[in-house]
Amino acid sequence: MILEARAISKEYRRGDTTFFAVDRASLSIAKGEFVCIVGRSGSGKSTLLSMLAGLLTPDAGAVLFDGRDCALLGDEAISRLRNTRLGYIMQGYSVLPNFTVLQNVILPHVLFKREDDPYEKALALLDRVGIRPLADQYPARLSGGELRRVSVARALLPSPDLLLADEPTGDLDAESAAAIMRLFAEIAAAGTAVLMVTHDTEATKGVDRVLTMRSGRLAED
Ligand SMILES: Nc1ncnc2c1ncn2[C@@H]1O[C@H](COP(=O)(O)OP(=O)(O)OP(=O)(O)O)[C@@H](O)[C@H]1O
Ligand SMILES: [Mg+2]
Repeated sequence: MILEARAISKEYRRGDTTFFAVDRASLSIAKGEFVCIVGRSGSGKSTLLSMLAGLLTPDAGAVLFDGRDCALLGDEAISRLRNTRLGYIMQGYSVLPNFTVLQNVILPHVLFKREDDPYEKALALLDRVGIRPLADQYPARLSGGELRRVSVARALLPSPDLLLADEPTGDLDAESAAAIMRLFAEIAAAGTAVLMVTHDTEATKGVDRVLTMRSGRLAED
């Protein structure tokens, strides 16, 4: 298993009550699997994904990446893992305004230097998501759907073992959304595990498994 979550929980406070945004969620994803999580707004999907990405520490339970318990790794090791083996597409926009599209895409490579030249790969990825002509533009001039595709290309740059995507097709038209789904299916077939959150139940046709989140509880469909 590339990723395993064992009964992870996150409790939040609202006013003077507390509630579980994620309540003992367990899942495991094998290499090359394409899995979707669906669920209503507020059901805990993004909170779950942040914990799986190592950005948020669970209050209980364990996250294992490639068999290793993330709680036992230091911040530096987690950060390295995130930038080299994990692709994470956050909900909303996460591009840096003062960098061009191409510079945004090579960001993970800059944070953790590696041998290979990132530019050619970044341009090939921009081509694959259909925005190569925008490589030298700044984000302020891009549409929502184009910005989303920048995040997709950036997440794929390190050729991650696991791609976590939080509503990556949220603001795309049907055709562009379908293109992203095809891209994800291709990279899954090539061995990258894909875990994606979506509202779009149409989009989940053809994925390997669908999990449903309800009030913090995760269940297999
Ligand atoms: N930092 C926080 N502090 C307190 N409550 C939070 C915090 N983050 C999220 N919540 C609450 O936890 C619940 C789950 O939020 P989460 O963002 O995980 O939902 P979601 O399923 O991703 O929703 P959406 O589909 O709208 O993106 C919500 O009720 C939210 O208000
Ligand atoms: Mg969310």
